[in-house]
Amino acid sequence: MRKTLNIAHRGANTVAPENTLVAFREALAIGVDGFELDIQLSGDNVPVVIHDEKLERTTNGKGLVKDHSLAALKELDAGAWFAPRYEGERIPTLEEVFAEFAHTDLLFNLELKSGIVLYPGLEEAVIKLVEKYNLLEQTIISSFNHYSLVECRKLNPEMRTGILYYAGLYEPWNYAKALGCYSVHPLFYHLQHPELVKGFKENNLPLFTWTVNEPLYMEMLVAGGIEGIITDEPAELKTIIEGINN
Ligand code: G3P
Ligand code: MG
Repeated sequence: MRKTLNIAHRGANTVAPENTLVAFREALAIGVDGFELDIQLSGDNVPVVIHDEKLERTTNGKGLVKDHSLAALKELDAGAWFAPRYEGERIPTLEEVFAEFAHTDLLFNLELKSGIVLYPGLEEAVIKLVEKYNLLEQTIISSFNHYSLVECRKLNPEMRTGILYYAGLYEPWNYAKALGCYSVHPLFYHLQHPELVKGFKENNLPLFTWTVNEPLYMEMLVAGGIEGIITDEPAELKTIIEGINN
């Protein structure tokens, strides 16, 4: 059985401001296997790493990401809201993340936030960057907007995609395969149904589940041989994975 991958949700977001370069550095220092990062598109079509469509929660800006040029987004502070010592931290571009971490063997789970704002051109811009940094084998693109995933596969049939979903879908493997998905990314509660884990395994669909922060669920999922866990608590998950695998 392969070891469960430890994926830091928005970077190490409990010790540093989510989706910033410092949060990804902290996650690397913890020893994670990958990052989950949320991608929106600037007004001038540059993929940027930020969870919300709106700027208010994690920056000192106002309004929608899509209504700001990259230059305007780069003026904003994306760290002080979290703790004063992170003042000056910026919203990273996806390219900045790749430029800094592409040399590692980390897995990049890029979540396209195309569910509320549709962002025409987001898929193409992201895929160009994955190709430029030669990261096809280290990247999974996920999204709650499954049209985005189909679009990604049209643009590059080698691009690995994974459906994100909240609902307790019944036998979703045929749907995932119809979309050409590499993996499936369900909310973790559903994996308490053993037939779901079994069904995905039988259909060769790796499971990357989110957002698992309680040790009890971490243990259950690692022992169940889940391929990847997306967590806000990567240090705790690391201890559990090492305990079960040693
Ligand atoms: O990719 C899993 C998870 O990040 C999905 O939800 O809202 O945290 O982006 P959210
Ligand atoms: Mg996300």
